Amino acid sequence: MSATPKPKFKNPRAQHNFQGRTVSITGVGSYVPAKVLTNHDLEKSVETSDEWIMSRTGIKERRIAAKDEFTSDLATKAAQRALKMAGVTPEQVDLIIVATITPDMPFPSTACFVQQKLGARRAAAFDLEAACSGFIYGIEIGQQFIMSRTYDTVLVIGAEKLSTIVDWQDRNTCVLFGDGAGAVVMQNRPNSHGLLTAVMGADGTKADLLHMPAGGSRCPASQETVDARMHYLRMDGKETFKNAVQAMLTAAKEALRRCELDISQINCVIPHQANRRIINAVGERLGATTDQLFVNLDRYGNTSAASVGIALDEAVSSGKVKRGDLILLVVFGAGLTWGAAVIEW
Ligand code: UT7
Repeated sequence: MSATPKPKFKNPRAQHNFQGRTVSITGVGSYVPAKVLTNHDLEKSVETSDEWIMSRTGIKERRIAAKDEFTSDLATKAAQRALKMAGVTPEQVDLIIVATITPDMPFPSTACFVQQKLGARRAAAFDLEAACSGFIYGIEIGQQFIMSRTYDTVLVIGAEKLSTIVDWQDRNTCVLFGDGAGAVVMQNRPNSHGLLTAVMGADGTKADLLHMPAGGSRCPASQETVDARMHYLRMDGKETFKNAVQAMLTAAKEALRRCELDISQINCVIPHQANRRIINAVGERLGATTDQLFVNLDRYGNTSAASVGIALDEAVSSGKVKRGDLILLVVFGAGLTWGAAVIEW
């Protein structure tokens, strides 16, 4: 009798007697607006240089949505591509989760607009707000609904029109962000490849590091808040940087530990695309090679909740990620929030 081969990693989900239920990512898609804003374009409006932006961030250009192109439009286009890849019709979607900090309007949710635009009439829909960590929060929530047998098909979208909350007079922040959307279709595919684990974390004591002061119940919109430019995002870049490296490292290590995986077994690490120096620092401390790290922030900048969704789509469509590969997603954002996920593609 031949011995059963030892599995190459542990699937923490299988521990919980889910009777063969596995959450697979059956489709991935992304969309970025057509308009490109380069570092050289920014040199004309604020005191900055392509050299400074490239050396401090790794960003070369970013995409900017048109005036009449809303977050829900970016989200819908990314979702349509993910649904096409999955071979799923909008009517088959049970739940739509949109992670965003730039909703079309404070309410109703952007997810409801997406539901209408897709024609996903059966789907429940809600937004979630975990800033740049929203995509990982979204897939963890989506998979819980599938594992609990509440739903079979969940659409998770990270979508942002950050150009509407960036202060274009503030060189500290306006060079960093861009618009776009990434989406995945998650489905129950018994005994198949899928999401192995997801880690989520938060530290509300550091909320001030990255926030938008006005427009909420604490500081509603008024002439004074507009005059004081309080409807734009504000960031303590240096502190955010330090916290980002530490939190992403902790989240990634925890996700690997749960799956009894060593970083060398991961085929592709997809980090939140905020700053090349953050990505390098996290990669180095994790023991990942440059080859393992997926980077596209040179072309899109930081697209917050959309960032890892867009990157996952590009990693798959470019052939960097193949069927059966192990992927580590790791994110960090305002809140503070952070997260990581391991996927067997
Ligand atoms: O997605 C959420 C997570 N967000 C992040 O992860 C962002 C984390 N932070 C960062 O990526 C970096 O801190 C920044 C890229 C924002 C800034 O890089 P830094 O190396 O921390 O630069 P700094 O803020 O210490 O600024 C250094 C100098 C300052 O000048 P002085 O005070 O030394 O004279 C800034 O005023 O660079 C100046 N500066 C700029 N110069 C040219 C700041 N922004 C610019 C600019 N162009 N755009």
